[in-house]
Amino acid sequence: MRILVTGGAGFIGSHLIDRLMEQGHDVLCLDNFYTGHKRNILKWMDNPYFELIRHDITEPIRLEVDQIYHLACPASPVHYQFNPVKTIKTNVTGTLNMLGLAKRVKARFLLASTSEVYGDPDVHPQPEEYRGNVNTIGIRSCYDEGKRVAETLAFDYHRQNDVDIRVARIFNTYGPRMLENDGRVVSNLIVQALLNKPLTIYGDGSQTRSFCYVSDLVEGLMRLMNGDHIGPINLGNPGEYTILQLAQTIQNMINPDADIQFQSLPQDDPRRRQPDITRAKELLGWEPTIPLQEGLEMTINDFRARVTSNQTSEAIKV
Ligand SMILES: NC(=O)c1ccc[n+]([C@@H]2O[C@H](COP(=O)([O-])OP(=O)(O)OC[C@H]3O[C@@H](n4cnc5c(N)ncnc54)[C@H](O)[C@@H]3O)[C@@H](O)[C@H]2O)c1
Repeated sequence: MRILVTGGAGFIGSHLIDRLMEQGHDVLCLDNFYTGHKRNILKWMDNPYFELIRHDITEPIRLEVDQIYHLACPASPVHYQFNPVKTIKTNVTGTLNMLGLAKRVKARFLLASTSEVYGDPDVHPQPEEYRGNVNTIGIRSCYDEGKRVAETLAFDYHRQNDVDIRVARIFNTYGPRMLENDGRVVSNLIVQALLNKPLTIYGDGSQTRSFCYVSDLVEGLMRLMNGDHIGPINLGNPGEYTILQLAQTIQNMINPDADIQFQSLPQDDPRRRQPDITRAKELLGWEPTIPLQEGLEMTINDFRARVTSNQTSEAIKV
């Protein structure tokens, strides 16, 4: 099949491309390189079945494809809050453009939505039926509300124009190729520990998150794309950890002598987040397989290679 991956040079997109290329598909990677990097897809550059398109999805594009994995959108608060209006344009105009493309060429379209559509949830764990508790005017809204509109657009194109859609609600995902400076908790803590800096915890560390290893997530996305259910379907690891537990695990794995420092919590930071993956289990036969410790080891090895080979480590903001 000819498969388009928007945001293919990013963290999740590049791991997805690795799997699609290994399966023998013709892959088009579309990216504006805002948070993506050529190094993530470098190994496919000379492969005749791989094409790289530098393009911003807020502009329309004409392509002939069978499937579209729509991942283009900065995922970390540091990057999506840097230019919030652009984040909304990417989610709204960009998703409109990609749905328009799917409609024109009759491609199946998978939207990478997010657990952020649940906001700061007052139902725990979050099933897909839960409609969320999102602040429309907060600093995370450009992303949360942007993704909620993207979901609405996908369902309206489905109802109105018969576009074959799939909607995945992705929960916190981690793994090799996350950016060192993206401010996400796993990358922050690993980089701090590797640089012998104190590990920063925002709040008292009792807030919880679930962490899904990237290969598990990619498997879930592919099963959703190639199955019969349109979603939305939660994809994430239901194992719930406090941020303090995560920090202590990373501390023990990298630098048991590292200090842990507490700082004030950012605005609208959700207290708890844990996926209910009953639907994914029943409809896709999917559940995560990589335990946190094992996933962290693979992630730490990747970061260690980058942080130590990168003598600009002083410049890495943590
Ligand atoms: N990583 C997670 O934990 C997580 C959780 C929930 C949802 N998601 C979603 O999954 C998708 C991928 O996330 P990721 O972690 O790989 O993020 P990422 O920032 O590494 O990847 C996003 C990619 O999209 C590209 N991009 C951004 N704006 C673009 C635009 N206007 N035009 C073209 N390309 C553009 C970036 O350059 C980057 O390569 C995102 O849609 C994100 O919202 C991720």
